[in-house]
Amino acid sequence: MIGRNDPCWCGSGRKWKQCHFPNQGTVQPKAADHLKINQLKEEYLRKYQILIKSEEQIKGIRESCQLAAHILDATCQMAKEGVTTLALNDFAHELHLKAGAVPAPLKYGQPPFPKSICTSLNEVICHGIPDKTTLKSGDILNIDVTCIYKGYYGDCSRMVAIGSITAEKQLVIDVAYECLMRSIAVLKPGIPISEIGAVIESYALSKGCSVVNQFVGHGVGIQFHEGPQIPHYRNAIDIRLTPGMTFTIEPMINAGVREAVVDPLDKWTARTRDHKPSAQWEHTILLTNEGFEILTPWKR
Ligand code: MF3
Ligand code: CO
Ligand code: CO
Repeated sequence: MIGRNDPCWCGSGRKWKQCHFPNQGTVQPKAADHLKINQLKEEYLRKYQILIKSEEQIKGIRESCQLAAHILDATCQMAKEGVTTLALNDFAHELHLKAGAVPAPLKYGQPPFPKSICTSLNEVICHGIPDKTTLKSGDILNIDVTCIYKGYYGDCSRMVAIGSITAEKQLVIDVAYECLMRSIAVLKPGIPISEIGAVIESYALSKGCSVVNQFVGHGVGIQFHEGPQIPHYRNAIDIRLTPGMTFTIEPMINAGVREAVVDPLDKWTARTRDHKPSAQWEHTILLTNEGFEILTPWKR
């Protein structure tokens, strides 16, 4: 039993008699839990700029993620030979508006991104800008949808193959998918962020592919790009995953060299330096007490 002059159970550093007396703390585990969670939230925000989300925020982010996954699946179904990436953009844009959502990429960043989704074809690693390019058999395409719904962000992307594709393109598509799913499978409270990149890079290298290191996954939900950064390559980031974190994993896997070159004219389109194909899949994830929840349930 706690004594009147002992430090209070709440962690304030004051004596019990000057603090929560006569509340014994142990009979109120809920209050103590809330306190611990608040201390952790405060520490993560201060030390790493990581926003640990409340139940209410998680509900909102989950809804936004479900909408993003739905728009992504519908847009991917439209991606066929003869369709332009601009037509995909306009289709996805309309779906956002019909749902009462805003496409997050539109006017995002500097220079402002000019369209509502990203469409990254073949050797384009990420941030491809929809235009009059017509899809043709043999193309591989990443479509990336981020929506803002009731103020919350959901971010996801996946690949589509048009007609019949080369073995090299099929390989990057499959390896990138495996990298995403294998790295998600190890997620649980207490593991360091570095574990994600370790799983991804060792698998990609074992299949003769490379991992892009100029773009990373990221915290997401209240803003588009929050802390922490989630590298997909080997790294030494020792920040521990904790319940209530929401972040993306979005490995970009290349058939050839890892290096990306950003288009000097549009300042967005990132291509492989050797022009070999690249693939990417992305989920927004919630870290839970038990492990993880995939918030963006698109269908492969
Ligand atoms: N959706 C991308 C990501 O996964 C970011 C696109 S930024 C944009 O982080 F401006 F190009 F849309
Ligand atoms: Co993202
Ligand atoms: Co994205």
